Amino acid sequence: MSVSREEIVRVEGLVKEFRTGMGIRRKRALDGISFRVLEGEIFGFVGPNGAGKTTTLKILMGLIFATSGRASVLGHDVGETEFRRRVGFLPENPYFYEFLTGREILRFYAKLSGVAKPEIERRVETLLDWVGLAHAADARLRTYSKGMLQRVGIAQALVHDPSVVFLDEPMSGLDPIGRKEIRDLILRLHAEGKTVFMNTHILSDVELLCDRVAIIVKGAIRYEGRIEEFLGVDERSTDVVLSRVDPGLAAALEERFGAIGGRGELVEVRVAEKEVRELLDRALGAGANVVSVTPHRASLESIFLSAVAEAGARDRSPGR
Ligand SMILES: Nc1ncnc2c1ncn2[C@@H]1O[C@H](COP(=O)(O)OP(=O)(O)O)[C@@H](O)[C@H]1O
Ligand SMILES: [Mg+2]
Repeated sequence: MSVSREEIVRVEGLVKEFRTGMGIRRKRALDGISFRVLEGEIFGFVGPNGAGKTTTLKILMGLIFATSGRASVLGHDVGETEFRRRVGFLPENPYFYEFLTGREILRFYAKLSGVAKPEIERRVETLLDWVGLAHAADARLRTYSKGMLQRVGIAQALVHDPSVVFLDEPMSGLDPIGRKEIRDLILRLHAEGKTVFMNTHILSDVELLCDRVAIIVKGAIRYEGRIEEFLGVDERSTDVVLSRVDPGLAAALEERFGAIGGRGELVEVRVAEKEVRELLDRALGAGANVVSVTPHRASLESIFLSAVAEAGARDRSPGR
């Protein structure tokens, strides 16, 4: 067991209803959700559009209020204001005044968040460098790419050196290179010991980045925990492709590991992860070549899609 770590975020039974239709009808965006975020982790708050991610984050940031339930950040109720000095926030669609330069906007935010005056210039230069925008510091934001703007947004969130950073869809709308740049920044934050809370619907990024996730679908948490557990590590299998398999070896492998497949000269064997070593030892011992070893697992996407489909089926079922 790991040593217990500080709870950075704690959400308990959170409900949020919005009034709609001239305030007459109510729409329940969060249906009593609970989860926690631990110190030093990259936490993924994952769900399809409209699931309730931004609503939750706005409650955590004190921008809107919950209908009922409790939420705390760094041990403080989200209704308090003091803890916000230790928290950075990148909103979903950050708006930046586009006639300012990268350097100017960071100066502005540094002043706004109370960085001491003699510190401001040094802090801004450090941040520009950190997010890889030093070369564009004096260009107007109007000329920045979406990826560059997102990096300004992250620099803005870090201006007062917070210990926790909340990012709402940091990778959405970016091309693969832009996404990789943001992923690298998030990994560096993690390496520096910061806690990262990330809203996202991009599953490949979740697999690459997150230690733990909570999956939210239609205002309800469907899973909370470590990502490997979610993906079912224990049920993993591995495909091993061999060449130069003589008939004796083929028969032995078939007897030991069950049906084997083949394409031309190649022989393919699917085994449980714990059997890979034995298979390779036997094959190499009998003079075969190993062409490839490919671990297989349920993809986050397939599990995610079935969770969404299940929630949809529940909605359509009678009595709801
Ligand atoms: N101010 C609001 N008024 C009414 N409904 C809202 C408001 N904000 C969000 N919603 C609704 O709440 C649900 C969750 O939205 P949101 O938290 O933005 O989802 P996500 O960020 O996961 O895409 C959606 O159905 C959305 O339409
Ligand atoms: Mg959102």
